[in-house]
Amino acid sequence: MSLITGRYGLSYTAATPEAVAAFDDTVSSYLGFGRDIGDRLKGVFGHDPDMPMAHIAKGYFFKLFGSAVMAERAKKALAKAETLAAENQITPRETAHLDALRAWCAEDLDGATAAWESVLIEHPKDAFALRLAHFNHFYDGEGRLMRDSVARVLPEWAEGDPDLGFVLGMYAFGLEEAGDYAAAERFGRRAVEINPADAWSVHAVAHVMEMQGRHGEGIRWVAGLEDSWATTNNFRFHLYWHRALYHLERYEFDQVFALYDRHVACDIESDMYLDVCNAASLLWRLELYGVGVGKRWSDLAEVSLKHVEDHELIFVVMHYLMVLLKSGEREAAGKLSTHLRSYADSGVSQGRVTAACGLATATAMEALVDGDAGGAVAALYPVRSEMYRMGGSHAQRDVWEEMLVDAAVRTDPVLARALLAERTAAKPLNAWGWSKYADVLEATSTSDKSATARARVKDLLAAV
Ligand SMILES: [Fe+2]
Repeated sequence: MSLITGRYGLSYTAATPEAVAAFDDTVSSYLGFGRDIGDRLKGVFGHDPDMPMAHIAKGYFFKLFGSAVMAERAKKALAKAETLAAENQITPRETAHLDALRAWCAEDLDGATAAWESVLIEHPKDAFALRLAHFNHFYDGEGRLMRDSVARVLPEWAEGDPDLGFVLGMYAFGLEEAGDYAAAERFGRRAVEINPADAWSVHAVAHVMEMQGRHGEGIRWVAGLEDSWATTNNFRFHLYWHRALYHLERYEFDQVFALYDRHVACDIESDMYLDVCNAASLLWRLELYGVGVGKRWSDLAEVSLKHVEDHELIFVVMHYLMVLLKSGEREAAGKLSTHLRSYADSGVSQGRVTAACGLATATAMEALVDGDAGGAVAALYPVRSEMYRMGGSHAQRDVWEEMLVDAAVRTDPVLARALLAERTAAKPLNAWGWSKYADVLEATSTSDKSATARARVKDLLAAV
């Protein structure tokens, strides 16, 4: 083993320069949602089976699956990396990565993120640390930290750096989740100019369009670049989800179902959590729009049944619970809820999130499936301001806001009126919100305002 310099001047403890070059390409593949991340990592091991950073990466990739089964494999990779670190003189940067993996395996997400951020202070061009911190900030609901984490390193990146586009795209998404839509779009578009296949950057701009209600433009943006981003791994289905969301908000249900059946839910059996999140979230929203979804919930049950003891990412677990509840798997749903109740006392990062808002969300969804809209409001409304802690994007979490609004319309019109005043102000181009607002204004005897809201729905849908 020796110290070998790789891309951006970063040093690695490795046997050969070929191993380090292969490692750099593995990181780039990860940044670009490549279909060959695993093969590339195997390529690194082909050059050097004992490269410490490659074993740390192996652990990271297992953790990124966000499942209990893969978390166990990550622990094995950690053990191997620990052994190699003890046998070799690894660098402080590699040691910090090892600390991050150790913390992550101990479910201390905050500790892992802190380790990556410490790497980035010294090594602003460690794109691996940057993306992993980005990921954990995302699932911690910290849009501003996503933005600032990238802002701290961005001046060190230069035109021509192979991964510059990915960094700009991360910055764009951080800006978007922090609410700076204009800057987000500017950086996102620049990243896509550099690399149209960069799905994360396409996605950042798609989010801007979603948040600003630019549904037609969003459809054209995502569809126009499809030939490029469709080359990526299962993340591409999330871009189809975004496109389906624009169509949903335009009440174009045929297009939503076509995208759902052809893309969003076409690879559920591969057991990637984001696929289930996309599918469950879309089905639940369709039902909130009053549209029947046939037997599609049942088609998601088999995969979700494998995750009744998961807690890696509470945001994800809530989507498994949606499926179990809606597909009639009540015993499994009960098992998952019981698991969450005990996990809420664990004191670890996601355990705290479970206690803060996960349990209440689970209770609310159970109540909704039981037809108890009042119970759902009672569970969800008090934790509304804590929901961001589950992470995911604003657009993804909106499904719970829609559940709350819909339940309140049926059981507490005065509360619903207030929630919908807020929603229509924040999302003035969302016809569903105006339609619910019109209903509740009518129910609370403010018929003149109701007529205005109703006209707004008509105008918005006529403009489609
Ligand atoms: Fe998204």
